[in-house]
Amino acid sequence: MKFFIDTANIEQIKAAASWGVLDGVTTNPSLVAKESRDYKELLNQIVEIVDGPISAEVVSEEVDGMLREARDLAGIHSNIVIKVPFTPDGLRVTKTLSGEGIGVNVTLIFSPLQALMAAKAGARFVSPFVGRLDDISHQGMDIVNDIVTIYDNYIFETEVLVASVRHPLHVLEAALMGADVATIPFKVLKQMFKHPLTDIGIEKFLADWRNAGKKM
Ligand code: E4P
Repeated sequence: MKFFIDTANIEQIKAAASWGVLDGVTTNPSLVAKESRDYKELLNQIVEIVDGPISAEVVSEEVDGMLREARDLAGIHSNIVIKVPFTPDGLRVTKTLSGEGIGVNVTLIFSPLQALMAAKAGARFVSPFVGRLDDISHQGMDIVNDIVTIYDNYIFETEVLVASVRHPLHVLEAALMGADVATIPFKVLKQMFKHPLTDIGIEKFLADWRNAGKKM
């Protein structure tokens, strides 16, 4: 299972990369808006830190604008994957870009049928937003399970990228369901380190070592 980090913050990306667990990065307009940096400059820096898929999202809503932005962003580095929203124009763009060999991440997926359509159009990734579904009292992880089943049934190569992750349990469930990727906020990645028995265990080992007067 691949771990992406869901952020446009360089320090967070560097920290996650240093832990040896990072396979890629996802950004979106809201995450980029939090950083006071030029978008392309930011992406240029991210591709130097992480050697894996880096999702960069278009902000135009019609085909021509999306294609113009997508080709421009894809020109930054071969690891850039273009994120497009699940709309009729977004799917047209997905078909065109995948035909040109540019990877597309179809985002804002809230149903298994949307994911099926995105895969048929040639998406490299689909991003079901599990946290936002949970927020409206739908079981977000249920659609991940359905998408994994559908893709297995028809042997689609599109990867299921679990997005809008809010807590470590989302990551655990995604792994158990066989999702290909989880894109994880920095806060959740840090939470995944935590176990009280690990902390207590370290404390006890070190106390025993010190009390015995041992030296390294
Ligand atoms: C990532 O690709 C998504 O844009 C992101 O996970 C959305 O998360 P949010 O629902 O917490 O904004």
